[in-house]
Amino acid sequence: MVTGANGQLGSRLSERSNDAQIHLVSLSRTELDIADTQSIQRAIEVHRPDVIINAAAYTAVDLAESEPELAHQINAVAPGLLAQACAENGIDLIHISTDYVFDGEACQPYRPEDEPNPQGVYARTKHEGEQRVRNAFESVNSSDWWIVRVAWLYDVRGSNFMQTMLRLGREGKSLRIVHDQQGAPTAARPFAEALMALATHPDRVPSGMWHYSTEGPTTWFEFARAIFLEYGLEVDTSPCTTAEYPTPAKRPSYSYLDGTPFAKALKLPIVPWEMELKNEVKANENAKKDEK
Ligand SMILES: NC(=O)c1ccc[n+]([C@@H]2O[C@H](COP(=O)([O-])OP(=O)(O)OC[C@H]3O[C@@H](n4cnc5c(N)ncnc54)[C@H](OP(=O)(O)O)[C@@H]3O)[C@@H](O)[C@H]2O)c1
Repeated sequence: MVTGANGQLGSRLSERSNDAQIHLVSLSRTELDIADTQSIQRAIEVHRPDVIINAAAYTAVDLAESEPELAHQINAVAPGLLAQACAENGIDLIHISTDYVFDGEACQPYRPEDEPNPQGVYARTKHEGEQRVRNAFESVNSSDWWIVRVAWLYDVRGSNFMQTMLRLGREGKSLRIVHDQQGAPTAARPFAEALMALATHPDRVPSGMWHYSTEGPTTWFEFARAIFLEYGLEVDTSPCTTAEYPTPAKRPSYSYLDGTPFAKALKLPIVPWEMELKNEVKANENAKKDEK
């Protein structure tokens, strides 16, 4: 059972609904509100899932600074409620978290056991969500749980950094793009595939904290340039610093996650971020051709 089915990740997870091997139920916010205990209970009673993938979240990183209570409810309290319901009903839970739980002071890839030090409201609420999930399962040890952190999610559709760059690029704007934050762009579709592999092979990965990543890192500036190159767009771009482009929420200057142990456990390759970008653009073009 997938929560947040209309989101960037949730919609990619939902695409597996025509897979005969899996009985997949994808629920949008109107069908399952993860911040509402009764809504969770109802969904569990009706659908009797073996595993829940929680792709629901409050993801407006900057807006969270002015909506801390809402962000806390959805990112911290709700995952705890979901985890408690899973633990009580013997259901496995895959919960998604973020690279932003780290402060960015490291100079080597973050491992799952590294100490978080979240900086903004979004980051703090996501970190508390992780703790609540862990606590719920540690007090009732009846099923498996995984928290999978991911960074810089994008897709060839929807609204995300890639789509913003393409829109601005096509408008012919000159763009100054942050060049002093490092991370690894990660496409939603292959990440969803990896989560499905985990859901269907739970024996391969012990319960706990894990990181998923492409091979990187890079910067937002380099990522934008690679996007424009891939789409054959000539855009006037120049690098800038975070200080020159201030945002309400502080972001880590380095948040490259070490995804090696997770990939090894699931026997998945770690793909260079540039190659993954090419693959996604190509897959999208092919899907469009098939539609015609
Ligand atoms: N996007 C990134 O760059 C990024 C980076 C690192 C980690 N992550 C993590 O990856 C996960 C997926 O992110 P995403 O990019 O797919 O986010 P997204 O596109 O914003 O999708 C989140 C979904 O959650 C739904 N939702 C919000 N509150 C809910 C509630 N109370 N009950 C049920 N559903 C609710 C939203 O519904 P509405 O559409 O109705 O609002 C939306 O469909 C999140 O855990 C996020 O923290 C994301």
